[in-house]
Amino acid sequence: MENKIHLHDKTFKLFIPNEDIEKAIDAVAERLNRDYADATDDNPVVMICTLNGAVIFAAELLKRVQFPMVLKACKLSSYEGICSTGVIKTEVPLPEHLEGKRVLIVEDIVDTGGTIVAMAEQLKARKVQDARICTLLLKKDVYKKDVKLDYVAMEIPNRFIVGFGLDYDELGRNTKDIYVLDD
Ligand code: IMP
Ligand code: MG
Repeated sequence: MENKIHLHDKTFKLFIPNEDIEKAIDAVAERLNRDYADATDDNPVVMICTLNGAVIFAAELLKRVQFPMVLKACKLSSYEGICSTGVIKTEVPLPEHLEGKRVLIVEDIVDTGGTIVAMAEQLKARKVQDARICTLLLKKDVYKKDVKLDYVAMEIPNRFIVGFGLDYDELGRNTKDIYVLDD
């Protein structure tokens, strides 16, 4: 476990060790296993991994959930560097054929909530049976939107973090621990 990492022009220090992340994911997966225990092969849960940040979280969930499910992906983006631009770009749209499905959005982090609100709006038009949101991290002092976050693995203060899938200008996704900007 490195105590500090350097990415581009910035230094980050260890913030959440992998074992704490794994414990939080265990707890969320247990809830998902309870809440989706009645899913069937005919109507599996459609888990939508939001690229790229949520890939590791989604993979960790996949190792733990036991109900019938299919994996899809989409990509919306709002961040450049260490700030949200507030403008949401759709790079990979939501999957097709979501009508009547139970959809579970898997996000890496909810910050201002702009991304999740845009996603909820896109889902509204799709006549899904049920849509829920599962996020690894929530900056709870920043998030002021009304969209319900059904599953939150960990709450963090308003700091810029990297690792476990999250990036600073595309670097830093490939660590087991989460690091915070050292300022
Ligand atoms: P929001 O739209 O402001 O909620 O931002 C959500 C997206 O911004 C996340 O899916 C991340 O891709 C990115 N993001 C927000 N906070 C951080 C952070 O602290 N580190 C890295 N990426 C972040
Ligand atoms: Mg993201």
